[in-house]
Amino acid sequence: MTVAESLFIESTDVSREAKEVFKRVFRSDCSQPGFAVLVLTAEVDSHELRCLMTALKERLSELHAAQWGEPLEYLSLGRFDQQNSTKLHLDGAPERSFLMLGYEPTKVRSEFQIADFSRCASDMGLSPAEFMRQHNPMFNAGAELLRGHVSTITNWHEDCPRIVIINNSIAEPGTHGATYGVLHGALIPVPDPQASRIINSTMIAPACFAGTDPAMQVREFVSTDQISGQILG
Ligand SMILES: [Fe+2]
Repeated sequence: MTVAESLFIESTDVSREAKEVFKRVFRSDCSQPGFAVLVLTAEVDSHELRCLMTALKERLSELHAAQWGEPLEYLSLGRFDQQNSTKLHLDGAPERSFLMLGYEPTKVRSEFQIADFSRCASDMGLSPAEFMRQHNPMFNAGAELLRGHVSTITNWHEDCPRIVIINNSIAEPGTHGATYGVLHGALIPVPDPQASRIINSTMIAPACFAGTDPAMQVREFVSTDQISGQILG
């Protein structure tokens, strides 16, 4: 994966990219990458970035409902200032879940990593869940198996806002709504305690996995100026 495969968005209407994002992320085989990176080249401030994220989520929800009969709902929404490196992992979430991250411009450089553990599992004759049980990449042997399935994105226009959508699923292939997930991780080679690196983070899942109507949390997410000190998992 090179940054050239990112989608560059000049307008402030990212929902027009929803079909392409849906194809890349909500994949029913491993010919698509399982994630998408949108680089916003227009002038977009933090509040506008979060509005664009919620608009994109609504379009993805419509596409998901058209295909599988279920809209997508938020499981969580938050804002974090974090410069910690993380090994390749799935976020703790239901077996069908999708991470949408809105990165604000920063001078802190990072490498963003994606590992196609679903493709690796399929090559080994395992389900994605079996692969994670037997070869968790938090341990070296599992990470070694994934080596040929890792995409590393560097120099990814960190001076621009970016939206990253990641398939975080581990559902049994062939079951209703099952799509193929990927692992994600980040390396911050040189953290800068004086600088901020703000990530607006949402977890999304089919409505059957969601709880109460999160409309209030969505309004708070879009309008707040608060940053949580919490570290992303
Ligand atoms: Fe994570």
